[in-house]
Amino acid sequence: MFLVLPDPQAVAAYVSNHLIQLIQKKPTAVLGLATGGTMEPVYQQFVQQVSALQLDVAQLHSFNLDEYVGLSQAHPQSYNYYMHQHLFNLLPFTEAQLHLPDGLASDWQAECQQYSTRIQQAGGLDLQLLGIGSNGHIGFNEPGTPFDSRTHVVELLERTRQDNGRFFSSMDEVPCHALTMGIQDILEAKEILLVVTGEHKAQTMLNYFQSPASEDMPATVLKQHSNVRIVMDNAAASLLPETALHQAA
Ligand code: PGA
Repeated sequence: MFLVLPDPQAVAAYVSNHLIQLIQKKPTAVLGLATGGTMEPVYQQFVQQVSALQLDVAQLHSFNLDEYVGLSQAHPQSYNYYMHQHLFNLLPFTEAQLHLPDGLASDWQAECQQYSTRIQQAGGLDLQLLGIGSNGHIGFNEPGTPFDSRTHVVELLERTRQDNGRFFSSMDEVPCHALTMGIQDILEAKEILLVVTGEHKAQTMLNYFQSPASEDMPATVLKQHSNVRIVMDNAAASLLPETALHQAA
């Protein structure tokens, strides 16, 4: 289903509440986490709410969607660094709870295989948070990625590098490859929240709405999942026809 809220703060409050309700119901929940600009207000609200409620996070496990190849955990643009800065360092987590693909792995194939296996061994993802790239990617699964893919190394498309270039001081520094959970790993989550904010995502959401499930636009695979909520702000939903908002996602 589509849910449209006034602005990014309202979206963040909704997603944060949803996470908290899940954790209250299942303190051992396994969370699939995402990075990117969209998630920053989400984690900010989540940290505030968890602290205010003194919610116990000691039994949670998290698996991040993706990581740049070649960036160490200490690199300020690595997703490992992002997660520590926006979430992991701000609540009483231990490193054993937190899982990200290793951007410096020496054996990519083994790292990818082990990552998908670790998710399964943890009991699978209870909830996967997703953002969407302007080209419809989820995680770093670029257009053309098979729907049955597991964790793999991808060559980032130029559009994705350009989109993410705003976080780096020059385009030369933006990595060309990343490790990402595969689409099948994402689809196996019991529940999925796709979070989309900003006018710059409005065309992407219209494309999503108009496209059948197709590997040309990876996010459309979510149309095949039975428990997906697409949480948008007004700006991201601004090109969607009124009828879309009353239909299943
Ligand atoms: P963004 O990234 O939140 O920075 O827009 C989303 C994505 O590329 O998945």
